[in-house]
Amino acid sequence: MDAVAILTAAGSGSRLGDDGPKALVVLAGEPLVVHAARSLVASGLVTRIVVTAPPGSETEVERALAAAGLPATLDVVTGGPSRQASVAAGLAELADLPGSTTVLVHDAARPLVPGVVVRRVVAAVSGDKQAVIPGLAVPDTIKAVSDASSDLVVSTLDRSTMRAVQTPQGFTLDVLRSAHGAGAHLAGDEATAAPDDAALVEAIGVPVWVVAGDPDAMKVTTARDLALASTLAGSTPGPPRTGIGIDVHAYAAPGSGTPMWLGGLLWPDEVGLVGHSDADVAAHAVADALLSAAGLGDLGSTIGTADQQWAGASGAAILAEVAHRVRDAGYEIGNAAVQVIGERPRVAGRRAEAEAALSAACGAPVSVSATTSDGLGLTGRGEGAAAIATALVVPRR
Ligand code: CTP
Ligand code: MG
Repeated sequence: MDAVAILTAAGSGSRLGDDGPKALVVLAGEPLVVHAARSLVASGLVTRIVVTAPPGSETEVERALAAAGLPATLDVVTGGPSRQASVAAGLAELADLPGSTTVLVHDAARPLVPGVVVRRVVAAVSGDKQAVIPGLAVPDTIKAVSDASSDLVVSTLDRSTMRAVQTPQGFTLDVLRSAHGAGAHLAGDEATAAPDDAALVEAIGVPVWVVAGDPDAMKVTTARDLALASTLAGSTPGPPRTGIGIDVHAYAAPGSGTPMWLGGLLWPDEVGLVGHSDADVAAHAVADALLSAAGLGDLGSTIGTADQQWAGASGAAILAEVAHRVRDAGYEIGNAAVQVIGERPRVAGRRAEAEAALSAACGAPVSVSATTSDGLGLTGRGEGAAAIATALVVPRR
């Protein structure tokens, strides 16, 4: 269950009234587009994002995203004259993907969408639905007026059958491509363009389903919204929580042919470590640190590598499963750090690679470092390798 995303950020933000484009407006220290990308990645399900930038601001958007160091592939394309045209430009960039891929379309104008909403949408699309949008019940009484510029009420609508919809909206890539293909003639002008992607999907007769949205996925349109979003960004329901994890495995006998897995990587020239699973001490220590931070116990008591289902699982797969459970328990993952202790392998040369592999597995930044133990202890005598990790999780708003 994972997804790619198109992040629409090409609007001018005329109603916000800032000098530059809305996506680059700073909220709690970071541009809106960075918040939105971070929120998608924080779901743990999104690893590739195509961002639509305002013409002329591509480099600035690229720089802002690069500075955030998110564990995801980020491509920036030039947006179009309407939101719909921008999404179409994003779709063109995903031409290499199969039609069964789950694709999210998310507005940079909704910087604080909780990871749980992203997960809800992706889960529903990965199930039996082809088009899923987050929505909220409407608290206000809604009146229809006679035309767009009129003050004359013509009727009172039944708000119980209405939903105020948000993003990310999720689709199978097939359906989104068909919908944009059929509606392409509308995209040249914001006045004729579809208000959202679901409207284009409705027009081709594919059922669209609503799942629960969240008030924090609010849209930043005016300066007042920005002030409100700043307040939300600074508030969490509780302090962050740290956790710790340690894992140790013995080296297999020389000539045993045991592969060496460490930090989510295969080390082809090394004799590996012995364990129930692939004995990746770094991945296991990070997984334990995450469980510890979320108060969910430890690997032995939750996943249990002696358990048949996880017996042959890679450290990266175990870490990904743990990250899912931590998020399901109500936490966003801030980061993790792991230090490997042992004589071999020499981690330094592949440190960045290991960081990328572990970060991808848990959908949050993981730092990797290494040390030897000066000839002392089981790691110093070359009997085995160990890893110590810490992790930080934050209760979800
Ligand atoms: N968007 C886009 N391309 C456009 C117009 C809008 O990618 N040609 C994006 C915006 O960047 C935003 C989302 O679509 O993330 C929703 O649009 P909206 O909130 O209306 O943003 P703006 O168009 O930037 O704001 P305004 O309408 O006030 O100018
Ligand atoms: Mg607009």
